[in-house]
Amino acid sequence: MAERRPRLEGKVAIVTGAGSSGPGVGNGKATAVLFAREGAKVLLVDSVEERAAETLAMIREEGGEASVFAANVIKADDCRRMVETAVERYGRLDILDNNVGISRRGTVVEVKEEDWDHVMAVNVKSIVLCSKYAIPQMVKGGGGAIINISSIAGLRAHSSTPYTASKAAVIGLTFSMAADHGRDNIRVNCIAPGLPYTPMVAPRMDDVLREQRRKAAPLGTEGTAWDVAWAAVYLASEEARWVSGVVLSVDAGLAMTTPVTYTTLAQQQYAPPRQ
Ligand SMILES: NC(=O)c1ccc[n+]([C@@H]2O[C@H](COP(=O)([O-])OP(=O)(O)OC[C@H]3O[C@@H](n4cnc5c(N)ncnc54)[C@H](O)[C@@H]3O)[C@@H](O)[C@H]2O)c1
Repeated sequence: MAERRPRLEGKVAIVTGAGSSGPGVGNGKATAVLFAREGAKVLLVDSVEERAAETLAMIREEGGEASVFAANVIKADDCRRMVETAVERYGRLDILDNNVGISRRGTVVEVKEEDWDHVMAVNVKSIVLCSKYAIPQMVKGGGGAIINISSIAGLRAHSSTPYTASKAAVIGLTFSMAADHGRDNIRVNCIAPGLPYTPMVAPRMDDVLREQRRKAAPLGTEGTAWDVAWAAVYLASEEARWVSGVVLSVDAGLAMTTPVTYTTLAQQQYAPPRQ
């Protein structure tokens, strides 16, 4: 059998939030590593340079090609320079993974105005700014793929109002961008991760909650950043050439269930015993 060509061979990609906020591998880091493993040259963008440098070390160890660019993606000038740098270093731009995202807790009664503004800026405005400068470069190259990272929180109420609202906005933004730039051969899609165990959530998790999250979804298995990253590889690749404007849930089936039905207790009460 012929050897498979790497899916992203010859492509140039930007991943924002390409480091991880704690020890281990988060969504941005895993995505950058898989993009490089699949043959892309990757610009690793993070506001904390050392975090992106850790991702670079992982990629270099595997023989992949990548480099670090320190930027705060809520600043237009940083986003412009980020895109210019990708083109200067690698000659073109094909893929943008808008991964950066943060959370602040609170209802509309509790949330501080500055927290609301900051979450909306990091989770939504950053996508607008990064895409604003990336799309003209993709057009020059004949097209591209943009992947916006939303969340199950964009589809269902979550325990944080600013996070839920911002992640729902990412979905609307994806639809709008996909419609506006389809004729430029730019595909824009969205990933809605469920409740994977990643460095972003680990500090807020004890073993009991971690187990509850695992058991909440029909598959009953724990997700990792690699699950999210493989979805990004697919959406970035030519294999998804006819896919645009979708919200791909990567959540072990969680978003399609009714509340509580899949907890152990509910299974005992409602479901016939398994033979
Ligand atoms: N369980 C989960 O981890 C989960 C679930 C659903 C959705 N998501 C989404 O996945 C995305 C992040 O995943 P991750 O695992 O890579 O997170 P992470 O927190 O591990 O890493 C994000 C990186 O982004 C960087 N960053 C933060 N703000 C920045 C800014 N303004 N400019 C540049 N860099 C910035 C941080 O320094 C960090 O290194 C977010 O959009 C998040 O909402 C995560």
